[in-house]
Amino acid sequence: MSNTLQNSKAIGVFDSGIGGLTVVRALLEQLPNENIVYFGDTARVPYGSKSAQVVREYTLDDTEFLLSRDVKMIVVACNTVSAVALDVVQKRANLPVTGVIIPGAEAALRASGNKRIGVIGTAGTVNSNAYRNELQRLDGTTNVFSKACPLFVPLVEEGWLDLKATELIAQEYLFPLTTERIDTLILGCTHYPLLKRTIAKVTKGMVTLIDSGEATAGTVAAMLDAQGLRNSSSQSPNIQFFVSDAPEKFTAVGELFLGRKLGVVRKVTVGRH
Ligand code: DGL
Repeated sequence: MSNTLQNSKAIGVFDSGIGGLTVVRALLEQLPNENIVYFGDTARVPYGSKSAQVVREYTLDDTEFLLSRDVKMIVVACNTVSAVALDVVQKRANLPVTGVIIPGAEAALRASGNKRIGVIGTAGTVNSNAYRNELQRLDGTTNVFSKACPLFVPLVEEGWLDLKATELIAQEYLFPLTTERIDTLILGCTHYPLLKRTIAKVTKGMVTLIDSGEATAGTVAAMLDAQGLRNSSSQSPNIQFFVSDAPEKFTAVGELFLGRKLGVVRKVTVGRH
């Protein structure tokens, strides 16, 4: 196959649902020429409260779907999947694959002066210790303080980004981390970048917030360059959205995550759903 044909194939991105659109947003900003196929497993969301075994089963279905769309690489936008099932994707797909954990950990270490780094995410991500392990693998002197923040996902999906109630919940979750004098905080969940303003307020602007999705877009760019896979076409890119349930809800809420209109969202069946 000619390089042009190969390079014009889409980047496949998947997530447990809608949150991965924050990663697509970062990809659109940093790689505006790339075609993208997004799959959100809205029939089976959330993944963050499920066992690693179940998340690994779902991950295989999500990967099969993207492979059926003939993508050129796979981006695992979901932190929970990146934490507990990245190897499932890597084993199944004979393609370049990245999750969000390594890019997020690398960006946090670049930003931190005192190497006291906080990590927030779903219960699945925090319990896996994936960020902690990666941070300490990269720099053994790093102190990591983690906290699961399960209420943040429904708050964001409700659009409650700046409400007093959200601020109080954020205070409750983040207080133990701020008392540890962290100078950097990894937003280790697809939804949390939408809470940046509230989190910055609660941490009194003293902590650098790391958006793993943004860091991942940089990694994707570097991987495409390394493999000579960048799309050089000047045609406007094709961004396709697929979900396993309720495309109308995805369309309505998705705009908040993507920062622009989504266009057509198609429902597909994956696994037994
Ligand atoms: N996408 C998930 C993550 O980043 C959050 C939503 C869920 O629990 O499925 O961990």
